[in-house]
Amino acid sequence: MRIDVLTVLPGLFDCFLREGIIGKAVSSGKVEVNVVNIRDFATDKHRVVDDVPYGGGPGMVLKPEPIFRAYDHLTAEGEKPFVILTEPWGERFNQEMAVKLSKKNRLMIICGRYEGVDERVKAIVDREVSIGDYVLTGGELPAMVIMDAVIRLVPGVLGNEESLRADSFMDRGLLGYPNYTRPAEFRGMKVPEVLLSGHHKKIELWRKEQSLRKTLERKPELIEKLKREGKLTEEELKILERLEKERESEG
Ligand code: ADE
Repeated sequence: MRIDVLTVLPGLFDCFLREGIIGKAVSSGKVEVNVVNIRDFATDKHRVVDDVPYGGGPGMVLKPEPIFRAYDHLTAEGEKPFVILTEPWGERFNQEMAVKLSKKNRLMIICGRYEGVDERVKAIVDREVSIGDYVLTGGELPAMVIMDAVIRLVPGVLGNEESLRADSFMDRGLLGYPNYTRPAEFRGMKVPEVLLSGHHKKIELWRKEQSLRKTLERKPELIEKLKREGKLTEEELKILERLEKERESEG
């Protein structure tokens, strides 16, 4: 996979692309990330990338020309990328979107900045994406969030297949089960007995129940939706029936 990132703050990506799992994915060549400074595509002497908004109002708007020039340069050859623009009012990023994006060969992320981006940039954008209902100073952190969620799904990036297996819950939006590591008792807090049993089937069942219990408590509407869509297994439905009875008797 290749990802082009268009930004006015390329330095922000240095650590992100060097450290940890993402750093490894990049250095091993599983993912190629090309951070491009939009300023390099400005044509004037002062390399200006923003300007005041037509019609007045506060702040500055990213100009279209440098972004289009960067886009033209990067797409002159090869497959056209799927282009994302980070914006606080875009479509909400979620795991389902991450899975879809991880299957693309080529992505481009344009990091919004300042008060906004000239509307005409949207002519080259496939999807405007927000990472949540809050306003950040720019699209660089959202771009990193999107890349992190996408890159870890690229085949071969996560060595441990188990981590991906845990995502089988996430795929449907179910909440994760609790995790523990050594010691078995810490400051009087004990690890649940079943996890020490070595009994894989029982452990799997316990985890499933924990995941369903948490989802039922915090996102009951999701459980209803998964039921309607027939996305729960017989075993899961049975566990849910028991949990729901338990809740009823507890009042
Ligand atoms: N730019 C500023 N805030 C943002 C957000 N929440 N998501 C995506 N891009 C943004």
